[in-house]
Amino acid sequence: MENRRGAGRRKSGFAGPFVCAALLAAGLAAGGQTADQAWLRGPNRLILFGKVIALGSSPIEQSAAQELSRSISHPASVKGGVFSTREWRENSLTVVGTAQEIRKLYPDVPVPGDLKPDEYWIWGRGSQGPSFSVVAGGDERGALYGVFATRRLPATAEMGKLKVDYPLRDHPAVPIRWVDEWDNADGTVERGYGGRSIFFEGGKVREDLAPVAEYARLLASVGINGCNLNNVNGAAPFLTSEWLRGLKRIADAMRPWGVHLAMSVALVSPEKIGGLKTSDPLDPAVKAWWAAKVNEIYALIPDFAGFTVKADSEGQPGPASYGRSPADAANLLAGALKPHGGVVLYRAFVYNNHLDWSDMKADRARAAYDIFHPLDGSFAPNVIVQTKEGPIDFQAREPVSPLFGGLRQTSQAMEVQITQEYTGQQRHLVYLAPMWKQVLDFDLRADRKSTPVKEILEGKSFHRPLGGMVGVAGVGRDAWLGSPLALANLYAFGRLAWNPDLTPEQIADEWIRQTINIDPVVVSTVEKMLMQSWPAYEHYTGFLGSQTLTDITGSHYGPNIESSERNGWGQWHRDDHEGIGMDRSVATGTGFVGQYPPEVARVYQSLNTCPDNLLLFFHHVRYTHKLHSGQTVIQYIYDSHYKGAAEAAQLVAEWETLKSRVNPALYDDVHARLEYQAGHAIVWRDAIVQYFLKQSGIPDNKGRAGHYPGRLEAEDARLTGYKAIDVTPWEDASGGKAVTCADAKSCMAEWTWGRKAGRFDIAVQYFDLQGGAARFVFAVNGQPVASWTANATLPSRRPDGDNSTRYTVRDVELKPGDVLRVEGTADGNDPAALDYVEVRPAPMAAARAPQ
Ligand code: GCU
Repeated sequence: MENRRGAGRRKSGFAGPFVCAALLAAGLAAGGQTADQAWLRGPNRLILFGKVIALGSSPIEQSAAQELSRSISHPASVKGGVFSTREWRENSLTVVGTAQEIRKLYPDVPVPGDLKPDEYWIWGRGSQGPSFSVVAGGDERGALYGVFATRRLPATAEMGKLKVDYPLRDHPAVPIRWVDEWDNADGTVERGYGGRSIFFEGGKVREDLAPVAEYARLLASVGINGCNLNNVNGAAPFLTSEWLRGLKRIADAMRPWGVHLAMSVALVSPEKIGGLKTSDPLDPAVKAWWAAKVNEIYALIPDFAGFTVKADSEGQPGPASYGRSPADAANLLAGALKPHGGVVLYRAFVYNNHLDWSDMKADRARAAYDIFHPLDGSFAPNVIVQTKEGPIDFQAREPVSPLFGGLRQTSQAMEVQITQEYTGQQRHLVYLAPMWKQVLDFDLRADRKSTPVKEILEGKSFHRPLGGMVGVAGVGRDAWLGSPLALANLYAFGRLAWNPDLTPEQIADEWIRQTINIDPVVVSTVEKMLMQSWPAYEHYTGFLGSQTLTDITGSHYGPNIESSERNGWGQWHRDDHEGIGMDRSVATGTGFVGQYPPEVARVYQSLNTCPDNLLLFFHHVRYTHKLHSGQTVIQYIYDSHYKGAAEAAQLVAEWETLKSRVNPALYDDVHARLEYQAGHAIVWRDAIVQYFLKQSGIPDNKGRAGHYPGRLEAEDARLTGYKAIDVTPWEDASGGKAVTCADAKSCMAEWTWGRKAGRFDIAVQYFDLQGGAARFVFAVNGQPVASWTANATLPSRRPDGDNSTRYTVRDVELKPGDVLRVEGTADGNDPAALDYVEVRPAPMAAARAPQ
């Protein structure tokens, strides 16, 4: 349990006010979409005595008291034990309220006089008799956060040994702790992988807002206090009066949990929906329009949090169209919001996506600093510049954005992505807390002093009052984030925004205990898996800071190495036959390195000191360049991809050890996802390895690249109905080719087994396209051994690395002369395309036997 800042007096050994009992967390909740499907499973292992009362009548205090009552076991439900006497039950009391309310009613309770807004203080007396407990807040929301901190207690305690030093006191690190949703009016969610919007459908706010209230409860449980609803792209329609009335209903649903509503706005709204001739930020009519619009919003939503702005970026118009600066635009909105206490989150994600790729000095990474640094000092006090963690765009590995060190007189928020746009889209397990933590801890050495990013956000470095963390969440109706383990990222975001000093391991531990169960084997295994997942993903996708190698003009999911090159988007890695990497040095490159404070710039500037994991972000080197480890770049590419694919397979094996220890439905769900991930990691591995083998012409000194023992290519098979095709990009298929059943309904590919007899696992690599559910049958000597339907929802409507999928048939007996056959039946847009089958000796039967 955190108790870090100004903890006050400590009473060691005091067990009350709450007692930990040997209750296991409840199973998966059934029914509608609730917060219990994430980590708020209850009742949990705390026992609460007697009554709980809220001292105030506000909705927040009411929800706090209800949360405490409903989520914590009452003695009546605990068998035996000294605490379940009638006296304990009837005479114990827990009060929830603001410090002021507590002081007034209970003058003898030593509630501190200096509790800040959102801060909590938990205290109690009476471990030997009926207890009296207090959950106090600097304000109502502080009391609510105190309740959730209480609820979390067992997650940090050993079974039956809850020992906490009371009083507990804590406050959040930063005042702005928001999630951004990128929901569209039609119910789709930009870069969302958890189903359709919980807010909107068919151009309107949804009738059923129960999931919204549950979402707010989930957010409040980790201290998130703002939710920006709509997509940063195409935001203008949301400011119409009709929409605002709908948004009021959402704000009402979130209010009892202290989550304030915010919205993305388009700078061109005065023209688009106000009928004005201009949206020039300095035009008096435009100013009046915004003031009136903001008044209209606050009349409906008195606690409205503010606006998020994406302007002059990726097609979104902005102040540049009127010859004005981002500060002019931000200050226009800030002026309208100021009388009401609202804020503007102005995104520094401003860049030209029509850069000249042939210009070796052009560099998208420079844009945020080049544009915003000169404006430092000219933003209104209620403007917060919101900067993505890295200078490009939520890549699996980027350096920290230098802008955090470049704004000294401006409040700053760091934007991270919870929804896994570039990190496997929730189909891959990637726990992001270690990545965020690296950024938060990164010391920019501004003015040659210690200035870790977290301290800049906290206002410790430059004394700015409104720092924050913003997480692009992308929740939807499909169990919030679509994948159960991905919820660890939402949890971790909130916990780090509250306390950036927590470690990713601690957070994982807390989350697992609350979400899965408290079995120590489960906790340590899942924690290990979570901690392994980001490095594994980085190993089998990118390398050495090269940035994403996904399809950057499309899905951002599967491999498509050249899609980053020779276009205006500026995500170049500039590979050719000789070498790879962007030269961003000051001496010979784009000069981006010079945006960092000198001590950091010096490290990145030189090949001798630049860390290997960012080498290709900062430098262009030959494939034969030696890393600090002594390995060449090309050999690292081969090794890391084989390593990453093996690590992904290891995640499956680790999860399998938990089969009898976790909820069966959860087990099956996660198992299927991890198996898919392990298969897709092979697609990634092979795409990158064969691409760079061809590009460099340098063989793998371990002999793996380009050699696939046991692989039988579909294009080499005896084909009936199937036709060979070239796959685009070529690296997404083994040998660049596949077969497709586009011209017939049902097709066959057959191979004769010519090697030794034995028992084998046979992987069938096929393409699971959108718009149809093709059927596959695998047969040996005409006898079907397995059949399955290709009905996953994967990106892309043509066979490529987005949808290349592996189905493994286990433990098949083969002898020379046997005929292996894959029969594919096309359906709709899905032509049952096939890449290869791969035959590998089956592991020892005993090793795979169920535990
Ligand atoms: C990424 C993402 C877009 C999004 C943009 C942003 O580029 O792919 O969908 O609009 O970031 O952050 O504004």
